[in-house]
Amino acid sequence: MNTKIKMVDEKKLDKDIIGEAGKIIREGGLVVFPTETVYGLGANALDPKAVKKIFEAKGRPQDNPLIVHIWNIDQIKTLVHDVPDMAYKFMEKFWPGPMTLILPKSDVIPDVTSASLPSIGIRMPSNVIAKEFIKSSGVPIAAPSANISGRPSPTDVERCIEDLNGKVDFILGGEMCQVGVESTVIDCTVTPSCVLRPGGITLEMLREVDKKAYIDPAVMKKPDKNIKPKAPGMKYRHYAPKAPVKIIKGDLKKTVAKINEMVQNYIDENKAVGIIATDETKDFYKNGLVISIGSRSNMFSVSKNLFETLRCFDDKKVDIILSEAFEEKGIGVAVMNRLNKSAGFNIIRV
Ligand code: TXA
Ligand code: MG
Repeated sequence: MNTKIKMVDEKKLDKDIIGEAGKIIREGGLVVFPTETVYGLGANALDPKAVKKIFEAKGRPQDNPLIVHIWNIDQIKTLVHDVPDMAYKFMEKFWPGPMTLILPKSDVIPDVTSASLPSIGIRMPSNVIAKEFIKSSGVPIAAPSANISGRPSPTDVERCIEDLNGKVDFILGGEMCQVGVESTVIDCTVTPSCVLRPGGITLEMLREVDKKAYIDPAVMKKPDKNIKPKAPGMKYRHYAPKAPVKIIKGDLKKTVAKINEMVQNYIDENKAVGIIATDETKDFYKNGLVISIGSRSNMFSVSKNLFETLRCFDDKKVDIILSEAFEEKGIGVAVMNRLNKSAGFNIIRV
């Protein structure tokens, strides 16, 4: 397949290019587009044939439901029913933005989109290109992250091209994604609200609306027979760079010392080691390929760079990646959820 790639300036919002992409969606094609979280791979959510192509292009398991993206709140009327008051409160406070609400789906949603579940995830992104693109398509857009299944989600158009060039009709390029981790997925079919996937809207923020909101306890643990996450997608090994990842967790000074010791051992075995460091620690590593993921004093810089950092280590072909850990509060919960999964929960405590 010949993939058209076109860039759009967020300030100019070229309507001709966005309109061309919207038309492809209406005609049943696949379009990659930017959002504030990660890039999405979109198709008409109401067209089962088009949605099926998403699963094929990504190599995505059929039992993993998609999120439906809208630009206008009125669109939810036909897509879902029995919307609880709490869901409206979340929408009012956090839409448009990095939040997906799980609600009872209506019959217009094909089974392939919802993986045959009775519910569907709905999200209204805030990225200006995404909003204009969904509007121009005239339909709700089903979109998972625009990566090959299992790989780190793309936060930059170059990474979408790397994974999906030749497999989709159109790649609409914008700027690097601001949030860097995927949307917070909240189950609004239960009381109190349950976070199925931590993301850009933190638990602390959600509790301003629903005091009792909580995170599905399975999400931060290694999945096994007894601990099953409620979101189908959370059970897979995910976000994985090619090299294995190990997380070193504990006091920061001890972490740095442990990483330095491990790096030396790997170098003695002729292995290339990547280190996920921070602005505060990067100068303390003596050897290995060091990348600072951001500043500990601004965890949003860490979330923004997380997936891109993992992919950079792939480019450098390291044999092993050692990462510092982060405090599990605020956006740090989402960061550690993705990092734990990329490491297959390989955590060394110091
Ligand atoms: O930020 C995002 O949400 C991005 C951008 C493109 O909008 N999209 C995204 O989609 O991350 P995806 O498909 O990579 O992840 C969707 C997650 C999966 O873990 C899936 O299992 C869960 O949401 N999910 C979707 N519908 C669900 C439902 N009805 N019930 C439970 N979990 C659901
Ligand atoms: Mg994904």
